[in-house]
Amino acid sequence: MEIIKLSDYSIFIGDIRESLPSFLQQKNYGRLIVICDENTEQFCLPVIKFAINQDFTSIKIPPGEQHKHIETCKRIWTQMMQEGLDRKALVLNLGGGVIGDMGGFCAATYKRGVDFVQIPTTLLSQVDASIGGKLGIDFMEVKNSIGVFQNPQAVFIDPVFLKTLSEREIRSGFAEIIKHSLIADKVQWREIWKSEVGSRKSENFDFEQFIIPSLKIKQRIVEADPF
Ligand SMILES: NC(=O)c1ccc[n+]([C@@H]2O[C@H](COP(=O)([O-])OP(=O)(O)OC[C@H]3O[C@@H](n4cnc5c(N)ncnc54)[C@H](O)[C@@H]3O)[C@@H](O)[C@H]2O)c1
Repeated sequence: MEIIKLSDYSIFIGDIRESLPSFLQQKNYGRLIVICDENTEQFCLPVIKFAINQDFTSIKIPPGEQHKHIETCKRIWTQMMQEGLDRKALVLNLGGGVIGDMGGFCAATYKRGVDFVQIPTTLLSQVDASIGGKLGIDFMEVKNSIGVFQNPQAVFIDPVFLKTLSEREIRSGFAEIIKHSLIADKVQWREIWKSEVGSRKSENFDFEQFIIPSLKIKQRIVEADPF
């Protein structure tokens, strides 16, 4: 397990069945709410179900950027109210950047803020969207025009989730990794150049070797300029 410590939260990279239970044991949350979409409910929820090891409620929304708007937030807030969620609850955002941004925004604004953790399940969200505490939604067709800055309690990154990701989404995340290395890490750029990126969908492709350096670049950037 690799742990990257930021000023007020940590990023755990490795088996979530180890990192999440030990985090939950140290905290004393009342209710747990998992926000997921139709895909992450199918592919990712089974992975964390056993790690959570206590009752939880899930809120499922339709997938995709076209749902990252206020009407979906209303659905999320409505379900939180109906469940009688109080400020001792923990929200677990299980999904790509859309769930992370919107689920985080809903948590940060519900009753003036409940704790949340990010469990990014796309490559792009694992190397970029889940770090830095930028949360929000699209409004009047302007991307990320409504939102807040609020850090999560923790981020849990497990490459196991990437196994069910489409080729298109893998490429999208890899583009971000390439961008990070071009901007800030010559050594990493050479590693990418040398690697057999073309065979990355193979069962044993080691994503961690790219995720960790990319996260460290993003860490440097958000710590130097949080806003
Ligand atoms: N907050 C930030 O700093 C930041 C940075 C970059 C991007 N973003 C935001 O991130 C969003 C894009 O995120 P994204 O690229 O992750 O897209 P996404 O969240 O829409 O996910 C892409 C698709 O993959 C599916 N999916 C997710 N995990 C899966 C898995 N493990 N297996 C199978 N399918 C899975 C989703 O259901 C969705 O259909 C944008 O809204 C963007 O604004 C935020």
